[in-house]
Amino acid sequence: MLDINKIRADFPILKREVNGRPLIYFDNAATSQKPIQVIEKIVEYYTHYNANIHRGVHSLSQEATDHFEGAREKVRAFFNIPQCKQVIFTSGNTHSINAVASGAHVFVNKGDEVIVSAVEHHSNIVPWQMLCERVGATLKVIPVLDNGTLDMDSYHQLLNPKTAFVVVNHISNALGVTNPIKEIIAAAHRHGAMTLIDGAQSCAHMKVDVQAIDADFYTISGHKMCGPTGIGVLYGKEEALNSLPPYQGGGEMIDQVSFEKTTYAGLPHKFEAGTPNIAGGIALGAAVDYLNEIGMENIAAYENELLIYATEQIKTIPGAKIYGDVTDKAAVISFNVASLHPYDIGTIIDKLGVAVRTGHHCAQPVMDRFEIPGTVRASFAFYNTKEEIDVMVQALQRAVNMLS
Ligand code: ALA
Repeated sequence: MLDINKIRADFPILKREVNGRPLIYFDNAATSQKPIQVIEKIVEYYTHYNANIHRGVHSLSQEATDHFEGAREKVRAFFNIPQCKQVIFTSGNTHSINAVASGAHVFVNKGDEVIVSAVEHHSNIVPWQMLCERVGATLKVIPVLDNGTLDMDSYHQLLNPKTAFVVVNHISNALGVTNPIKEIIAAAHRHGAMTLIDGAQSCAHMKVDVQAIDADFYTISGHKMCGPTGIGVLYGKEEALNSLPPYQGGGEMIDQVSFEKTTYAGLPHKFEAGTPNIAGGIALGAAVDYLNEIGMENIAAYENELLIYATEQIKTIPGAKIYGDVTDKAAVISFNVASLHPYDIGTIIDKLGVAVRTGHHCAQPVMDRFEIPGTVRASFAFYNTKEEIDVMVQALQRAVNMLS
């Protein structure tokens, strides 16, 4: 059981009002709110040990390095990553995906095929399209069924000896549906293909064990798991990361530099050119501590309760239609009410203090599949409550009355 009042007290922003009403923050799939422990960690770094890392013999640099590398170890343990050198700090999930796609010509040749799913975020489509254009490969798409789950029969039919890479999200940001990634990865591996799983929506809402999943690459967003913006993680199997060329050149990622030839540093530094987001990395470590203290199993169980309750309540609104209405999903509800425009609904309920995301959620192909311009998306976190859901449903009812 979670002590929600105690947890809520850790999030200063939850005390504020919006448009004269208590803030009800249901846009957690876009970014999570930050507990005071994370906010204070950023202040602590800049106040007490701000220095560049890995570079100085001086004490401050040493201290900052220890905190940053300590955070890397926390992230390693959190996702059951075998070694710290397989934790690559990036600027975010999009950077993590691009770091792989930009070097994936070592895995994908002319005439090969890359499979993505129809429920991907643009950040897990466009980099692969760019790769395919660069190397002369073809992008193939796993279709989505009416209930928002992937058409797995089609997926198995798409796999063939030309399949070089399969990239799928763990949880869809637009629908909240959890994809059967173990089955997807195992089938890809049977065909000799590499795999990348976009974990932007899973990392904060369930226990993720990258070794059990067996993906070659797994990408993580720091700001969606109570960390700051501007920090993310790329995990890769050691062999995969060793084969992947670096994404950016610069300081820290080299072994030796001369005008004739440069050799690269080992992992993780090969992928961490330039001064990293030091404060962000350290604060992500604090976010991991915070989530560990609450427990990912407790978070998943509580958020599932919120999901079930909110789903029932939203269904009481005449004309409401939920996209991705299945049981195996994260606490994300994407819906429309009759033919009302999601933007209009979102604008009215914002006036009542309720923050949801409206639109295509950076996943236009999903919206095209369902022939809609977008949805209203309510996404919950462990600091939300059923009482807040009641307020949202009342606000929705009011919006529907005004707009109908
Ligand atoms: N990817 C984020 C979302 O789904 C921004 O809202």
